[in-house]
Amino acid sequence: MSKREFTQVPQEEILRQREFMRQVRELNPDRLLKYSISTFGCQMNENDSERLAGMLSEMGYLEAENIEDSDLIIYNTCCVRENAEFKVYGHLGSLKKLKKQKPDMIIAVCGCMMQQKDVVKHISRKYRHVDLIFGTHNLYRFPELLYNSINSDKSIIEIQDATGSIAEGMPIARKDGIKAWVTIMYGCNNFCSYCIVPFVRGRERSRNAYEITSEVEQLGRQGFREITLLGQNVNSYGLDLPENKGFAGLLRELGNVEGIERIRFMTSHPKDLSPELITVIKDCKKVCEHLHLPVQSGSSRILEMMKRNYTREMYMELAAVIKEQIPDIALTTDIIVGFPGETEADFDETLDLMEKVRFDFAYTFLYSRRTGTPAANSPDQISEDVKKQRFQKLLEVQNRISKEINDRLLGAETEVLVEGLSRNSINTFTGRTRSNKIVNFKGTNELVGMLVKVRIKKIQTWSLEGELI
Ligand code: 5AD
Ligand code: SF4
Repeated sequence: MSKREFTQVPQEEILRQREFMRQVRELNPDRLLKYSISTFGCQMNENDSERLAGMLSEMGYLEAENIEDSDLIIYNTCCVRENAEFKVYGHLGSLKKLKKQKPDMIIAVCGCMMQQKDVVKHISRKYRHVDLIFGTHNLYRFPELLYNSINSDKSIIEIQDATGSIAEGMPIARKDGIKAWVTIMYGCNNFCSYCIVPFVRGRERSRNAYEITSEVEQLGRQGFREITLLGQNVNSYGLDLPENKGFAGLLRELGNVEGIERIRFMTSHPKDLSPELITVIKDCKKVCEHLHLPVQSGSSRILEMMKRNYTREMYMELAAVIKEQIPDIALTTDIIVGFPGETEADFDETLDLMEKVRFDFAYTFLYSRRTGTPAANSPDQISEDVKKQRFQKLLEVQNRISKEINDRLLGAETEVLVEGLSRNSINTFTGRTRSNKIVNFKGTNELVGMLVKVRIKKIQTWSLEGELI
């Protein structure tokens, strides 16, 4: 890729959008209008929704308690798997009645699904009550699009192709006050044969290190304690920038930011994980001992068909090196079952890899056929029944391994960042260990946002119970 091929959105355009925010706010001076945003998919989408919320707050909107009270409903969609798409269609269908009762209400749909032409066509034909459709690349143009939608009876559709520029300087309203997501790069160049992401999110574009550092410094000043750096493949951060300090270099720099106590990141493609990154995790106190390293399959034959660029042996060797250098690292992964052509023998290799690598946690997915991706054209699609059986087996094996790994923590003293009250019981607070495991313990409000020492007393499948030391 040639350097500087992707540019930043010009400052004048950002100022123009700020002017639209002012104009929408003028239409709504008493902050009477309410919005609701439903987000599907990954943390990147959650982070985009926080941007929408930031713009809406500047436009005088407040968050609604429920959909029925909303003057503006936004669906921020995901298209990685078909299920997420079905859910969006279901929601849109059920809004038809509400829109009849409240014709001034605006229904907007955005996100990855909208970067597919057929989807936009389908929605504009079948769901005529949708007022506004936009994509991932023009999210920063939301103020202008909303202004136009408020002033028009017609549906507005604006999608930019997948070479979008990076917009800096737009507002953001984060949901949490302690942990923050920070997107460091957009898009993906890998084209794994099952995956739609490169088609809808475009090629890799890295944010300037200066912009990222400024954002993180501000988060530190605002009282945030933990950041998670986001990108489809953070290991190739900076390759498209004229001055490239690489991902490890960026982590080192962010390790000096005052106020921020913990740094996490995701996702790392195994083929690009550098020895330098392992050293940074080991050396930099603030970088947590947790690595999300999607393996996808334990069969080299399937990995080749997936175009993952590593073999089963290479992955296992990498995992062994990481565990040897950072013994208390928590490894998590993504696994797909039922990729076209996956035999019982291939699947057994996945189970075997899980037993050998011993992940702390695995996000497991049924293969979903995505139109436009090479794997969707394969004649060897696996039946839903077989996929489900394999999925079930995968869960059983992973749950047992997760429990065995967690059992070893019984009695251990561990550092927890206190996030807030637990939803399940009174006076119980919740937080996470550096290895990203949830710990619940009795505490007091002043502890929220602090790092505390907790002794683990009880192990449950999805969380740990502890007591303050
Ligand atoms: N079907 C099922 N899972 C998929 N993923 C990506 N594309 C598909 C698909 N077509 C999974 C991968 C990826 C995670 C974010 O989603 O495991 O790592
Ligand atoms: Fe999809 Fe592969 Fe890119 Fe991940 S690395 S977003 S799985 S194409």
